[in-house]
Amino acid sequence: MLMSIPRFSLTESLARELVQTYQTPLYVMDENGFRKRIRAYLAAFSKAYDKTEISFATKANSTIGIIKIAAEEGCHIDVASEGEFRAALAAGTPAAQCHLHGNNKSRAEIEFALEKGIGTIVIDHFDEINTVASIPRTITDFVLRLAPGVDPHTHSRISTGQSDTKFGFNISDGSAEKALLLAQKNGLKVKGFHCHVGSQLLDPEAQRAGGEALATFAVEMLRKHAFATEYLNVGGGLGARYLDSDKPMPVEQYCQLVVESIRPILEANNLHPVLAQEPGRALVAEAGVTLYTVGVVKSVPISEGQKRTYVSVDGGLADNPRPALYEAKYTVERIAKQDHEWEYVTDGPGCAAVVPVGDMVVTVSGRHCETDQLFSDITLPADIKAGDILQVRTTGAYNASMASNYNRYQRPSMVLLHPDGTHNLIARRDTWDEMFVRELDLGNK
Ligand SMILES: Cc1ncc(COP(=O)(O)O)c(C=O)c1O
Repeated sequence: MLMSIPRFSLTESLARELVQTYQTPLYVMDENGFRKRIRAYLAAFSKAYDKTEISFATKANSTIGIIKIAAEEGCHIDVASEGEFRAALAAGTPAAQCHLHGNNKSRAEIEFALEKGIGTIVIDHFDEINTVASIPRTITDFVLRLAPGVDPHTHSRISTGQSDTKFGFNISDGSAEKALLLAQKNGLKVKGFHCHVGSQLLDPEAQRAGGEALATFAVEMLRKHAFATEYLNVGGGLGARYLDSDKPMPVEQYCQLVVESIRPILEANNLHPVLAQEPGRALVAEAGVTLYTVGVVKSVPISEGQKRTYVSVDGGLADNPRPALYEAKYTVERIAKQDHEWEYVTDGPGCAAVVPVGDMVVTVSGRHCETDQLFSDITLPADIKAGDILQVRTTGAYNASMASNYNRYQRPSMVLLHPDGTHNLIARRDTWDEMFVRELDLGNK
């Protein structure tokens, strides 16, 4: 059962070993936890319905070593760009096991995918139908992405199911029906429909509504155009626990809800398609943590008699943009204390060296040139100091895959912990040479 798989957390001794071996900032992935989550999801979905397919949404974590595990466990692989598709191929995934998304795929991207024999392309707009039809292809299945007109009540930047969206064909204004007819007219083998209502769904009601809308549309297409759908994909979206207070629905219940939103509508019309989901976060987020080293602890006045303590770490916006993008919250804890004792300076020059006791609420900030509050309202031991190691939980999804070199910082390494206790890097920190290799010396042209 997914919810009984604990959120991954390191022991102090392992954290120390990893920091010593690989330095910080460091993404740490738990292979065992990732595999268990995939198995739990696969089992829950196939218990709820007899013809199922799970794709791993690589946007959540497109590191080749991670995709490889997902494919080994029997997932199909969902890619949203040529880059993610190339990562899937590099992981040894057969192209036929991949499906390509994207609201603005380039012709070159589509040509590459078709040339490699991608299994499915999820078509997002009318021009794409014409583009695909004009490119020679052997066999590829096509799925139409639909906007079901459902508001998922999650952060606006990860809401995609509503009618006002750049993704897919609206059902409500007749675009979805027209798209099916145009695709068929162009000789594309449409196998079914797709929708993704949003991410980090803690209230899965929207997913139920999305499933119903998809199934109802499929039945309408059967009645009006004798189109018998073979495939319905309700996307990803199940939430992860970033904080102890986050309570996503257990995966068995979630899969049942998805199936129950669709099955009665289909059965009443003798449709029996493959049901598919493409989770990212629910599989991989809780299987990862990030380790940072504290560099600076600083208290500043914020109003009369009030202070804020900033604890600055050796990472931030560039390795985890989610707090800045989505106001995302995380669980942050001190996992290892700096070994050697040194003097405390608690309040600026001239202060007595007093070791504070108890806990305090701080703002953990990054090292980038923004006034970032990477993690706000975090309770840490009051003696937190430079050299201490912080662990941030639930960073396995949308951290490494969204990382940048902002401020010319090298992106962190990623280490994979194996079930037998060994570990190895699956992505290493950028080297300085790599950081500049793309750039042209215009003086020497
Ligand atoms: C089309 C599509 N499928 C799947 C996903 C994966 O979502 P999640 O990681 O929330 O499961 C996303 C996320 O944006 C998406 O846009």
